[in-house]
Amino acid sequence: MQIDKNVEQDGVIFMSIKGDEAGNGSADNRAGVAALSETDGTNRGAGSDGDITILAIESSCDETAAAVVRNGREVLSNIISSQIALHTVYGGVVPEIASRKHVEKINGCIRAALSEAGLTLDDIDVVAVTYGPGLVGALLVGVSAAKAISFAANKPLVGVHHIEGHISANFIENKDLEPPFVCLVVSGGHSHLVVVKDYGEYEIIGQTRDDAAGEAFDKVARAIGLGYPGGPKIDAAAKEGNPDAFTFPQAKIPDAEYDFSFSGLKSAVLNLINQAKMQGEELSQADVAASFQKAVVEVLVGHAISACKQYGYDKLAIAGGVASNTSLRQLMEKECAANGIRFYRPSPVLCTDNAAMIGAAAYYEYKKGVRFDLDMNAVPNLPLGDRERRFHAGKQ
Ligand code: KG4
Ligand code: ZN
Repeated sequence: MQIDKNVEQDGVIFMSIKGDEAGNGSADNRAGVAALSETDGTNRGAGSDGDITILAIESSCDETAAAVVRNGREVLSNIISSQIALHTVYGGVVPEIASRKHVEKINGCIRAALSEAGLTLDDIDVVAVTYGPGLVGALLVGVSAAKAISFAANKPLVGVHHIEGHISANFIENKDLEPPFVCLVVSGGHSHLVVVKDYGEYEIIGQTRDDAAGEAFDKVARAIGLGYPGGPKIDAAAKEGNPDAFTFPQAKIPDAEYDFSFSGLKSAVLNLINQAKMQGEELSQADVAASFQKAVVEVLVGHAISACKQYGYDKLAIAGGVASNTSLRQLMEKECAANGIRFYRPSPVLCTDNAAMIGAAAYYEYKKGVRFDLDMNAVPNLPLGDRERRFHAGKQ
């Protein structure tokens, strides 16, 4: 996987993610982007052989992204404009700044996605966009752009649930993966254990009662002085630390064995820090990071493996920003191997927010006949598997 990155004048990082054309290696370095057609090395136009080429847009948080995806699994281009650097000074995402940057960046991302795919709007069959959940002002930028293109170019419009997008990122590099399977979705706003029964059909079997896993990473990183964005910083710091230096609680929820709770763990870390301060002791950031990470990862892996066993599934996928965590990937791989479960995970760059995953999810929605009208709105708290989109089925 090749990532061309440049930092623009305003501090935004512009990334173009290209696949490894040799297509060799493990799931971690296999091509996330098939930039060239497998047969003749050129980008073919849309529509040949019944192909469905989707222009996908994502702007739910602090990444403006556009991608072109063919038939749900072949990524022709994947452009991400990340605002992380802009929000770092504030210690987290400032919604108003995010929305304004999305407005500035979205057309450039869409243009770059089309040009890198070697296509024009005429070649696009469907326009897809994340319409929830997320920051309302941020979502509205992508939704407005997608509606404008759909109207002006007369293309069908498909709205995608952000988390369904994260789950669908697994289809891109794992051409053999088909539902049903269990998916652990862990991002900045969500921690869900889901049975993916069919494309677009989900049964939630566990979720967080309080903080999302990514939120816990972000809050603990801030508390131990690592700053924002917390997940990657804890991941890096933990590599230098001792995971057994401190023992943190792993919440079990009576009568809901697949639910999660991370607020007690976060409080335990805060208590440790306060106690150390009062006693004038210096804590090792790396040891706290490693011990905290171990507690989160063990719960996530434990729940996911026992769900597979109890529900009788032998395929397990992970998704969302936290799925890029090194320790989670390693432990999950080990436990899946020990329990005869096939483990699927997207490359780290496809775990965090991107539009290729939205194009993958949209393909299966489109095939089912789902179409949205121009009255599509951003839905900041859209629940997973929400049936609202079904109201729009078959209109176009
Ligand atoms: O999926 P995502 O990019 O955005 C949301 O939909 O929320 O996830 C962002 C979250 C943040 O909380 C970030 O700290 C966390 O994913 N994250 C990580 C890692 N990379 C990102 N958490 C743990 N380890 C990582 N390597
Ligand atoms: Zn996300």
